[in-house]
Amino acid sequence: MVSTLVLGIETTCDETAAAVVERQADGTGRILSNIVKSQIEDHAPYGGVVPEIAARAHVDLLDGIVATAMREAGVSYSRLDGIAAAAGPGLIGGVIVGLTTAKAIALVHNTPLLAVNHLEAHALTPRLVTPLTFPYCLFLASGGHTQIVAVLGVGQYVRLGTTVDDAIGEAFDKVAKMLGLPYPGGPQVELAAASGDPDRFAFPRPMLGRSDANFSLSGLKTAVRNEAERTGPLEPQDIADLCAGFQAAVLDSTADRLSVGLSLFREQFGPPRALVAAGGVAANQAIRGALQAVAEKAGTPLMIPPPALCTDNGAMIAWAGLERLALGMTDTMDAAPRARWRLDENAPTPAQFANTRAQH
Ligand code: KG4
Ligand code: ZN
Repeated sequence: MVSTLVLGIETTCDETAAAVVERQADGTGRILSNIVKSQIEDHAPYGGVVPEIAARAHVDLLDGIVATAMREAGVSYSRLDGIAAAAGPGLIGGVIVGLTTAKAIALVHNTPLLAVNHLEAHALTPRLVTPLTFPYCLFLASGGHTQIVAVLGVGQYVRLGTTVDDAIGEAFDKVAKMLGLPYPGGPQVELAAASGDPDRFAFPRPMLGRSDANFSLSGLKTAVRNEAERTGPLEPQDIADLCAGFQAAVLDSTADRLSVGLSLFREQFGPPRALVAAGGVAANQAIRGALQAVAEKAGTPLMIPPPALCTDNGAMIAWAGLERLALGMTDTMDAAPRARWRLDENAPTPAQFANTRAQH
């Protein structure tokens, strides 16, 4: 096996990002450049991501970001073995911008196209930084997604749990907004919670004890709103206590849902090699503590990629492209941008998985 080089483009939400990553002959990864331009300032006045503003910003920024990524990597287009772009799921305007740009570069330089699922890129990222083997369990928690996924191989994913309403990051953002804290709310709520009393308000622990591994956040969010309205006008200590109570409820619920997810994993696929966390919410120290406890209880190592690779970036798209390229899984110019794209569309059944394992 020789080493391969891929340019990765990410535009599914509010980060415009491009990166050049190398997959070395031994299968390990090396990031040559990783440029991320967050649009947070453009969206902050609206308290959330505005799709139209995001799409326009991607159009304005992407060419420059790609040029910078190539320059920093110090490689010419002719050296690239593939061009990868996130083809979904995400805000469709941004996805179209990224995928079309990747197609243009691939056509001009006669290089294979890799139309990557954004969720698959999150799922494969740990293998970019560590020699982790399949199967492992992914907990993905960001502003747009909350999922527990069995990662069985490249292109082989089984969703074990998902949120039935809000994503965890979305719930943090909405709670921050209702308490008058700035966007994005996750880090603000974590900060306020540090000086709050988690027991002052009795918030529900959604889904606790259920036998499936799904999440639900909207009831908890409403409970916070009700308490905030009952308590207001809010003093700083009230806000801190509301944040602490909300975060404690999220922690308890997440720990419970993940324990169930890990049990389902074990029943269907045997012991996971690791519990892997990704997405912006994994930056939360209290949540990291809860994940550590869950992993220890389950006897599974916990692996959290560095923060810059947990949140949206181009390197994860390039890496997923490299993993697919190594298996000959390239795409044609017909690859369509997709607003929705389930990771486990072609999921193997547990029996099929046992079969493929037996053959290896
Ligand atoms: O993965 P990410 O950067 O972007 C996508 O949503 O795709 O995740 C951003 C989300 C936001 O909802 C943000 O509030 C949340 O992750 N987040 C946090 C923390 N840092 C970021 N949530 C809780 N605690 C944090 N420290
Ligand atoms: Zn993401």
